[in-house]
Amino acid sequence: MMLEFAGIKFKNPVVIASSPLTSKIKWLIEAEKHGAAAVSTKLTFIKQPFYGKLRMHNNIKLSSIVCYDRRLDLEEGLRLVEEAKKKTNLIIFSNITHDNEDMDGWALLAKEFENAGADIIEANMVCPNVGLSTKSIKGQEALGAGEFGGAVTGQDPQRVRNVIKTLKESVKIPVVAKLTPNVADIGYMVRVCQEAGADGVCLAGAQSSLPLVDIYNDGKPEYHLLNGVSHGSLGGPACLNMAFSQVAQAATKSSLPIIGGGGLETAEQCIMMMMWGATLVTMCTSVMWYGWEIVDRIVRGMEEYLEKQGVTYQDIIGKSLKYLRPSHQLEALEGWPEVDLDKCIGCGRCAKPGHCDAIEMVDDKPAITPDRCLGCGICIALCPTKALTMHYE
Ligand SMILES: Cc1cc2nc3c(=O)[nH]c(=O)nc-3n(C[C@H](O)[C@H](O)[C@H](O)COP(=O)(O)O)c2cc1C
Repeated sequence: MMLEFAGIKFKNPVVIASSPLTSKIKWLIEAEKHGAAAVSTKLTFIKQPFYGKLRMHNNIKLSSIVCYDRRLDLEEGLRLVEEAKKKTNLIIFSNITHDNEDMDGWALLAKEFENAGADIIEANMVCPNVGLSTKSIKGQEALGAGEFGGAVTGQDPQRVRNVIKTLKESVKIPVVAKLTPNVADIGYMVRVCQEAGADGVCLAGAQSSLPLVDIYNDGKPEYHLLNGVSHGSLGGPACLNMAFSQVAQAATKSSLPIIGGGGLETAEQCIMMMMWGATLVTMCTSVMWYGWEIVDRIVRGMEEYLEKQGVTYQDIIGKSLKYLRPSHQLEALEGWPEVDLDKCIGCGRCAKPGHCDAIEMVDDKPAITPDRCLGCGICIALCPTKALTMHYE
């Protein structure tokens, strides 16, 4: 089932996010084989400020953090896009960044990618492992040439405005801003993009993050093959709920179409991201952790959902936004948990929450005092057999 983003038709909403997954033609072919509609090619500089290598912290089921990676120089990026246009039918986002003091450089990158066949320019104002890693350790004043771009650009509304305007004046293809979440008000930054003429925004995790450390080995950060650590880009499930909030803020404060990502691993989560306002969804860590088959499962799962529910992609975009309201306008409903004794295994987990005196274990079964229930719902979430359900008064 088709859908449209920035005037371009997509066969489904799935975009493989800019990363090592999109740095070689063989992976782009794989992306298409497994059903993705689009890819965002690996971040390209005119000339990258330093030649890193892929180094990641992986806390499977929770988070990935990348603080060091190999990007592409312009020629490599252009060859990749040209080859992708010849060998695949993928829609290609070209993920670029540059020093935000040099608008000619941004214009050059965008024009070259347009000529190479890119369908959309994705201005990278997100990666914390470019200048933000310096700014976070040494401060803004220590930023040197080549350290602007990425999240340092995305944190400054004036820089964001200048870059988007420059790109829009330079190319005819749509321009999307991939924005850092490390700002006070993402809705404001999205409005800045809209006023500057952007055709869409991408909000996909990448919070500035640090890894776990080995407390028995001098507090050494958990990265393989790296002699230190820098503030890196967060991916994986830890991003998911924050991403919902970012996408919903963008959707309620602007009319730009949104690519939503951060922590997506299942078709259901992708549908949720769309219900919070995303038109397209993007993923990286899940494919890096579990392989390309996850893309097939996500695409198939989303299509089965639409078919069974008798809806289109368009119908689900922003569906959950009507439930959003300021806290003081929310109305608390009253109720308490009820237990199905046939399902209860008497494990006692529901009676453990530190703040709760509404549940006591009596003869290995929970005895609930409705008057004392605060309504947090933790007991229901903890129950391993789903024996507890909320009773509404
Ligand atoms: C190893 C790695 C490299 C990445 N490189 C880029 C990049 O070049 N450009 C970019 O915009 N985002 C980059 N990202 C961020 C991802 O595109 C994505 O926005 C983020 O990881 C959150 O999504 P996820 O939870 O699906 O991983 C990278 C992420 C990882 C893990």
